[in-house]
Amino acid sequence: MSGKRFMPKNPVKLDPPKDDPITMAELAKCDGEQSPTMYIAIKGTVFDVTPNQGAYGVGKGYHVFVGRDASRALGKSSLKKEDTDIKVSWDYSPLNVKQLKVLDDWFMYFKNRYNIVGKVSDLPELPPLQIVNDLNSTI
Ligand code: HEM
Repeated sequence: MSGKRFMPKNPVKLDPPKDDPITMAELAKCDGEQSPTMYIAIKGTVFDVTPNQGAYGVGKGYHVFVGRDASRALGKSSLKKEDTDIKVSWDYSPLNVKQLKVLDDWFMYFKNRYNIVGKVSDLPELPPLQIVNDLNSTI
């Protein structure tokens, strides 16, 4: 696979990725309401989605991902509260192999479209991946 299917139709000019520490509290403020900025994190990497008001703006369909690490919801292709809730959305440990692949595909999708502005510095430790437990349990 060339990965071309994740490339935007029109090339996006991106800044060099930043490695700045961003706390979950700071991330939560970048929700397009408390601040005009809109951030979404995937597996701790923070993307600036502010340019895409049409998808992520207040009242828009994908606003539920904004101001948080949305790994669980993206991997599960879910817009449900149980997956998008800021308290659990960072925790992608329930994902199965297929969903982990979907999550990595979203990571590539975002990487090709949005500036990386930092890393979440205080994510809780991820519980053991359930898939790993499943694999172990078959041995
Ligand atoms: C009936 C169901 C759905 C329809 C019709 C739909 C439709 C679309 C369309 C038309 C786009 C824009 C694609 C583009 O311009 O390249 C899009 C993007 C997207 N969709 Fe959906 N979608 C659906 C369900 C979902 C679900 C369940 C999720 C949950 C993860 C999701 C997450 C996203 C995301 C993250 C984007 C990317 C927005 C961006 O460009 O940053 N969608 N969707």
